Amino acid sequence: MATRTEPASATIIDPMTQTVLSETRQQPGIYQRVQTSWRSFVTLKDLTPEQVDSFMKSYVIYDLDWKDEKQMVEVLGPNYQQEVGKCLSDYYGVLNHLCAIGELEKMYVPPIMDPKFGILGNQLLYEKLIADELQLPPNAKVLDIGCGRGRVAAHMTNMTGAKVSGLNIDKDQVASAIAYNEVMNYDNTFVRRDMNDQPWPFQDEEFDAFYQIQAFSLCKDLPATCKELYRVLKPGARLSLLDWVSLDAYNPHDAHHRDLMREVKPIIGAVGTPTPQSMVDALEGAGFRMVKHYQPSHDGIQAPLLEGAKTYFYTARWVMHNLVYWKILPAHLGALFDRLNQGAESFIEADRSKLITTCYHWVAEKPAGGDGVPGKSGSPDSSSSEVLGVSGASSISEGKGVDTPPSSDELVDADYAKKSSS
Ligand SMILES: C[S@@+](CC[C@H](N)C(=O)[O-])C[C@H]1O[C@@H](n2cnc3c(N)ncnc32)[C@H](O)[C@@H]1O
Repeated sequence: MATRTEPASATIIDPMTQTVLSETRQQPGIYQRVQTSWRSFVTLKDLTPEQVDSFMKSYVIYDLDWKDEKQMVEVLGPNYQQEVGKCLSDYYGVLNHLCAIGELEKMYVPPIMDPKFGILGNQLLYEKLIADELQLPPNAKVLDIGCGRGRVAAHMTNMTGAKVSGLNIDKDQVASAIAYNEVMNYDNTFVRRDMNDQPWPFQDEEFDAFYQIQAFSLCKDLPATCKELYRVLKPGARLSLLDWVSLDAYNPHDAHHRDLMREVKPIIGAVGTPTPQSMVDALEGAGFRMVKHYQPSHDGIQAPLLEGAKTYFYTARWVMHNLVYWKILPAHLGALFDRLNQGAESFIEADRSKLITTCYHWVAEKPAGGDGVPGKSGSPDSSSSEVLGVSGASSISEGKGVDTPPSSDELVDADYAKKSSS
């Protein structure tokens, strides 16, 4: 067991606005950030030609969709689930390093909770919203599927004292999650596993709550996965989900819409194409009761954050190409950044047109007292769920009863995190 050290306090400055966001010890300081970026840069530089090739080839899955099984079998063969799993490992094994070079170490673009902040600041605000919505009991055990590098889990523990179990298909991210949470002295656990290999290695009714951030489009079978979630959650447990969806304005008969979708799926790494309602159906079909679902982002779009990320990654690409040109870096770095940037314009256009969003949000709960039976029509009536801002309007600014995110003042308060657990 590695010796645990208590890291020094860190001040978080929002990179876009230069505002102090947080002085808690659970977020990286500038030194740690530079160290992480440097480590990822070295990993990318040292990739073998086979790893680069596998990463490039893995994009084949984003031309497919879980709902078209015939095409899956034609392209990937009868063991397509395993093949998709292999592609996901190859893809995320490289992508997490490409993202960690910038401010996307937590690999998701959050809803704009507060337009004053950039990606990191809004991630912190969104994670605070999850912590509030889950209504955790003391010493809660929480499950995170598709847990990235365990940074969200660490933040959750810092805010609530909960013990988080994370599951991820990519061994590099699992290793990073274990190392980081160990250094932070958090008793969180992480396991390498394809979420589509079910049942998961957890007991019945093991967890008090569940959250996932932008991972469920990688579920082969959403209804089956919701039933598996139902199994591992205690009665009364809450779930908080954030994921990409296609919205009502998307018209599959419109050629331009279809072109945009073809470009967007690879850049957001989506295999499935859920809608707000398909997730509701899967949750309710499993026996969960919807609490609410809505698009939480300011003005119903994420474009300002996406444009910031695009500028960053375009610049990084330009720098890489120059260093490759002068033979300071190997050629594959230019190719990786080319691939990473492909589709950025389409993503922004589709978001601005509200054809899609990567930040639709659902909150549900497993009924206490066993009144919801998985997969039975006795599950609670959908009329009890609150649908907020499905059209993409910001439900926060309209004050439609959504849990209020913390103000920036609260975020600066080093102790804000503890408040939600008391
Ligand atoms: C777009 S990222 C979402 C951000 C992530 N929740 C975080 O905290 O950084 C998707 C995550 O799901 C993981 N993932 C993708 N497919 C998976 C699968 N089939 N099973 C388990 N994890 C998976 C990826 O490795 C990645 O960490």
